[in-house]
Amino acid sequence: MTELHHFTDALDGPVYVVTAAAGQERAGCLVGFASQCSIHPPRFVVWLSTANHTYRVAREAPYLTVHLLRRDQTELAELFGGETGDRVDKFARAAWRPGAEGSPVLAEAEIWFTGRVEGQIEGGDHVGFLLAPDREGPPVEGPPPALLRYGDVRHMEAGHPA
Ligand SMILES: Cc1cc2nc3c(=O)[nH]c(=O)nc-3n(C[C@H](O)[C@H](O)[C@H](O)COP(=O)(O)O)c2cc1C
Repeated sequence: MTELHHFTDALDGPVYVVTAAAGQERAGCLVGFASQCSIHPPRFVVWLSTANHTYRVAREAPYLTVHLLRRDQTELAELFGGETGDRVDKFARAAWRPGAEGSPVLAEAEIWFTGRVEGQIEGGDHVGFLLAPDREGPPVEGPPPALLRYGDVRHMEAGHPA
C-alpha cells in the first residue's frame, strides 16, 4: 500500500471550476480530479469530494458546467477553491449567467462546456460525475491562453474540510 505521493507530486494538470444548479441552489468548486474519458461518444468525468457543498448540489443537478481558468485568474480559483458554499454565496461574488437548466456559466471563464450528468461513479472519498457534453463556449481566438494548473494553486487551502 502506498499513498501515491511520489507519482502525484510529479503531476501538474489543469484545474477547473465545476458549477452546478439544482432547483434554486447553486454551487461550484475548484477541481483538479477531472479528465476526458471517451472520444466517441465524447465523455468527461469530474470527481467531487463527498464532503463538499458542490457534491451535495451536483447529486441533484441534471447538468454540470466545467470551466478552465487562465493562469492569472487566481482570484476566481481562491473563491471557488478556498471558500465553501456552506458559508458564503460564491455566485454573489462572481459574474455568471444561467445556462442549460440553470447550470451557472462564469462570465470570466472563456473556455467551458456544459454536460448532462449520465451517471455517478463511486471512487472512494470522491464521486465521479460522468458528463455528456451538451454545449460549449465559442473557440478562443488566437493562441491558446496559458491555463491555471495544479502547481499554481497547490499551496491553496481547500475551503471545505475533507
Ligand atoms: C488545488 C486544489 C484542487 C482541488 N481539487 C478538488 C477536486 O478534484 N474535487 C473536489 O471536490 N474538490 C477539490 N478541491 C477542494 C474544493 O475546491 C474546496 O474544498 C472548495 O472550498 C469546496 O467548496 P464547496 O464546499 O462550496 O463545494 C480542490 C482544492 C484545491 C485547492
